[in-house]
Amino acid sequence: MLDQTITYTEAGKFEDTRFERIHNVIFDSSREASVLVAREMANLIRKKEALNETCVLGLATGSSPIKVYEELVRMHKEEGLSFANVVTFNLDEYYPMDKQNIQSYYYFMQEHLFDHVDILPENINIPDGSVRAEALYQHCIDYEMKIKSYGGIDFQLLGIGRTGHIGFNEPGSHYNSGTRSITLDHITRVDAAPAFLGIDNVPRKAITMGVGTVRAAKRIVLLAWGVSKADIVKKTVEGAITSQVPATYLQEHNNTTFVLDKGASSELTRVKTPWLVTSCIWTDFLKLKAVVWLSELTNKAILKLTDKDYNDNGMSGLLTEEGTAYDLNIKMFNKLQHTITGWPGGKPDADDTYRPERSQPEQKRVIIFSPHPDDDVISMGGTFDRLVEQGHEVHIAYQTSGNIAVSDEEALKFAEIAKSLSTDSKDADAIIKFLNQKTENDIDTLPVRKLKANIRRSESLAATRYLNLDDSHVHFLDLPFYETGTIKKNNLSQKDVAIMCDIIERVKPHQIYAAGDLADPHGTHKVCLDALFMAIEALKHKDYMKDCWVWLYRGAWHEWELYEIDMAVPMSPDQVLKKRHAIFYHQSQKDGVMFQGDDSREFWVRVEDRNRLTAKKYNDMGLADYAAMEAFKRYLF
Ligand code: F6R
Repeated sequence: MLDQTITYTEAGKFEDTRFERIHNVIFDSSREASVLVAREMANLIRKKEALNETCVLGLATGSSPIKVYEELVRMHKEEGLSFANVVTFNLDEYYPMDKQNIQSYYYFMQEHLFDHVDILPENINIPDGSVRAEALYQHCIDYEMKIKSYGGIDFQLLGIGRTGHIGFNEPGSHYNSGTRSITLDHITRVDAAPAFLGIDNVPRKAITMGVGTVRAAKRIVLLAWGVSKADIVKKTVEGAITSQVPATYLQEHNNTTFVLDKGASSELTRVKTPWLVTSCIWTDFLKLKAVVWLSELTNKAILKLTDKDYNDNGMSGLLTEEGTAYDLNIKMFNKLQHTITGWPGGKPDADDTYRPERSQPEQKRVIIFSPHPDDDVISMGGTFDRLVEQGHEVHIAYQTSGNIAVSDEEALKFAEIAKSLSTDSKDADAIIKFLNQKTENDIDTLPVRKLKANIRRSESLAATRYLNLDDSHVHFLDLPFYETGTIKKNNLSQKDVAIMCDIIERVKPHQIYAAGDLADPHGTHKVCLDALFMAIEALKHKDYMKDCWVWLYRGAWHEWELYEIDMAVPMSPDQVLKKRHAIFYHQSQKDGVMFQGDDSREFWVRVEDRNRLTAKKYNDMGLADYAAMEAFKRYLF
């Protein structure tokens, strides 16, 4: 193992297992990991500088390397890291694509790195998306030759697409391929769609360095963050080498490290089912995880699992600790049973020893934080309804305006209605004019954004009224980080956190519900959760916070695993319909919504399927058979 990789091994977690074919390290957070990767790059730059040599970096774009670039810029500004001896080659560029286009990788690199460091402009190389079609072939050959003329790439930074692409080497790419033009895979275009405001605007082609070009790099570091990358990371690290997953070619590179966060590593065998890999320290959490897994694997209810089932599946150590399958089964069955409650705010006058929520105080003050103006009903509409019905003081706080998810057509419709109602239609006229002339690169004007936000406000109020909530308990926080008018948001600031603190301070809640759903395509849920965590950090010393429990929901994009759930709230068939109805009020988010992700089902369909599946999973474990269930995980602070 080389020097550089040892650095990661010490900081992250790496165990060699018979399942893994690529060296990889797992970090708690992508930030911590990115800092280390940037440090490795900086060390190399400095080492080469001391030898008076050029340092040749292969660079990637996309969401994965952003924090690495941030850290490199910081090191340049604060620690004097110089890029004067650096030559860069970017992996790829869309085709056709103008440099000025804000979607171009050229623009991305200027914005995130090159504009902020002292690299010489002539040392920057990015495939040119504006070359004429006739010149494209030669352009690719020249690019490849130029890399070779520098003696190849010293350090190659990579991301990985959900298709298993590296660069834009999509499935089917050849092991020895060089720089060339390619056709993008459909999944890649779906993933890029939000940035282009719709899949129709995503180019169909790109120029990319080849697999051979990448493999020739002396050192390769691939970054992957988040659960949405977990499946492809597992296939790449543990699967057979295949052109269908081009990243698997990296198994044959002798100096590659995959740098992962927890989410991206979550499907690896040693993370998902560690008992198949090594002897485990059996925490309560791991026990439940293993038993749920075994029950799913054998297709048996928990109470039917036998000693042999445990022994045959790598869990004999657990049995030795626990005595018999019989004892362990009952323990785990009860554990799951105790997560189920129809009283999410606690059951008054009940013994709450084995209930997920306290019975006291009987009437609780509750804040439901909803990142976008519909996550409340989508993700926990049934629980929301119960909390109101059971007499709790429920407040809904919509964290962002959600304005970018309203289509221009929808906004135009409302602007035209506004115009028809007023004799002075100056404002409506201006909006109508803007929308009719809007082009791809235009960012909505403030009045247009306001109109779009108001459309979502009215929809939210219709839904909260339907669930019998007074308007005075509905709060639109419009967190400033979101208000850029584009997909790319600002960083969280003290202003955002102050707004979050203010609402918590005013309500002094006994319960907070928030989206712990980290897989949404633009990361807004993650930022909203970070804002909440920062607010909690600032307020946790207050007396009322000592009596506040925080529950994280999921729903729109994925769901908690059974073993992660601390509270499961069942729904009757009628409640399922009521929830569906509440979601229907969000009309701008129905029928071909702008930010669909890769799941073509409408939100209400996905979430119904998910809630039904959660109930089915409980039932498969041998617990009661409910129509649907919403699931929550408690966050301890
Ligand atoms: C970008 C590139 C792509 C991305 C990959 C992951 O230059 O070549 O392979 O690295 O699509 O993209 P993100 O990081 O946005 O998930």
